[in-house]
Amino acid sequence: MPAQLEIDHVTTGYGKVEVLHDVSLAVPPGSVVALLGPNGAGKTTTLRAISGTLPVWQGRISLDGRTISGRSAYEIALRGLTLVPEGRGIFPGLDVRENIAIGANAARGLRGAERSRNIDRVLELFPRLRERMDQRAGTLSGGEQQMLSLSRAFLASPRVLMMDEISMGLAPTIVEQLFDSVATLKAEGLTIVLVEQYLTYALRFADLCYVMAKGSVAFVGEPAELQGSDALTSSYLGVG
Ligand SMILES: Nc1ncnc2c1ncn2[C@@H]1O[C@H](COP(=O)(O)OP(=O)(O)OP(=O)(O)O)[C@@H](O)[C@H]1O
Ligand SMILES: [Mg+2]
Repeated sequence: MPAQLEIDHVTTGYGKVEVLHDVSLAVPPGSVVALLGPNGAGKTTTLRAISGTLPVWQGRISLDGRTISGRSAYEIALRGLTLVPEGRGIFPGLDVRENIAIGANAARGLRGAERSRNIDRVLELFPRLRERMDQRAGTLSGGEQQMLSLSRAFLASPRVLMMDEISMGLAPTIVEQLFDSVATLKAEGLTIVLVEQYLTYALRFADLCYVMAKGSVAFVGEPAELQGSDALTSSYLGVG
């Protein structure tokens, strides 16, 4: 099956410093692909290159067979690629209702009944947000902010959803709730790219894992292969 999202021999970096060296990834439609690796490996940089917030120096990125590298982040988002950025992309000074409204407005051609249906759906996924509609987003707890950030991404009706360490700094029970919502989307057939430091969640949800190290792909395989490989686990991830 052809990949829905394809990163083909991509090189990029910041200023003059090359950070990604000849990175290739293929994300099959309807799959969950985990991007793993230690701090500084280039995971976030890879997501930035895909989402168009960082220009690609060499190589090509395509979505549904069409080249997206070289397009603006806005055009790429309109084509259905949504990124939940590292550190939560919300507007802290606005309340929950306003944040959700902006997410829904930014969604591709979403209006009227479909718009309200999508809003109802994210509030079903995260009932805690419904109780806090008038609270300023910046005063939500870390877990609630992450729920809001995910809600905004879901509202965009993405074709491919990329998430950068949504579990960062959160209590295990909140992380479980977040991943329950990810599981729901996975079951609906959404294509997901997941960056995670914690192996447990990545291995539970992923169909395919890419391990990055020093800006290159060091390993690609199914979770079972990764779990079976102690050397890879300890050297690249340093966790059990
Ligand atoms: N804006 C930037 N300017 C210069 N260098 C950067 C910038 N962002 C990241 N880097 C560097 O690029 C390399 C890859 O960083 P990146 O954020 O992609 O790593 P990561 O795999 O996401 O790590 P982490 O798990 O800590 O989030 C690091 O050496 C980092 O210092
Ligand atoms: Mg990162």
